[in-house]
Amino acid sequence: MFRRFNLLLLLFCLVYHSGNPVRSESGKKRGNIRLRCEHEDNNIVQIDLITRSEIIEVCETEECRGRVFKEGNCDVVIKNLIFSDAGKYTLRIHYNNDQTELKPNNDQIVPKEPKQWTYHLHIHDEISVKTGEELKMSVLVSDADKVKTNSSGEWKEVWTRDHGVQSDRMSNDTDINLIIKSFLDSDAGTYRVLDTEGEILITVTITASGTESPEKHRYRPNE
Ligand SMILES: *[C@@H]1O[C@H](CO)[C@@H](O)[C@H](O)[C@H]1NC(C)=O
Repeated sequence: MFRRFNLLLLLFCLVYHSGNPVRSESGKKRGNIRLRCEHEDNNIVQIDLITRSEIIEVCETEECRGRVFKEGNCDVVIKNLIFSDAGKYTLRIHYNNDQTELKPNNDQIVPKEPKQWTYHLHIHDEISVKTGEELKMSVLVSDADKVKTNSSGEWKEVWTRDHGVQSDRMSNDTDINLIIKSFLDSDAGTYRVLDTEGEILITVTITASGTESPEKHRYRPNE
């Protein structure tokens, strides 16, 4: 009896998941991203964009001032992306029964179950930093759980939510910044910010643009 219930629950979960997979979207910092809905009919009464159980206002007029606005039938665009936009989103639309247009005598408008899609939004950026400069990355966003880098040639954790900074190259401030006080060429590499499920929220690729490469002046007895 109990086992059958579990099986039903499993089946339900499988059907639910295959019907609504998480879509991965990747946008460049300061760029735009378009979250697509799939609804052709012109019977939408409301569009909700939800993240971290908060509803974000989707501007629906032509002269939108906000960063989040509707485009096309019900796609939602987020413009001028920032690192803290990274994470999970649900796009939900409420719409009316479109049968009413075909049958004018049917004066009863039956609202249908809302449709929804889930997105994982990844933000990436590429920067180049001069040797000796201070580098501040505003990547310790609220969903961040870990930061890893491969600057040493292999992936290492440099920050965790529970234990803070794990690298003597870095510090963090009371805001959301991860800081390298004086950048070295050996700090160059890819920095990844992961959430608690290990999904990548943010990728920052850092290259060194030293005024002069110190490599040139290094004495190498074996060469
Ligand atoms: C870090 O990883 C990126 C992407 O996987 C790769 O392109 C890059 O060469 C790696 N950098 C280092 C220093 O290993």
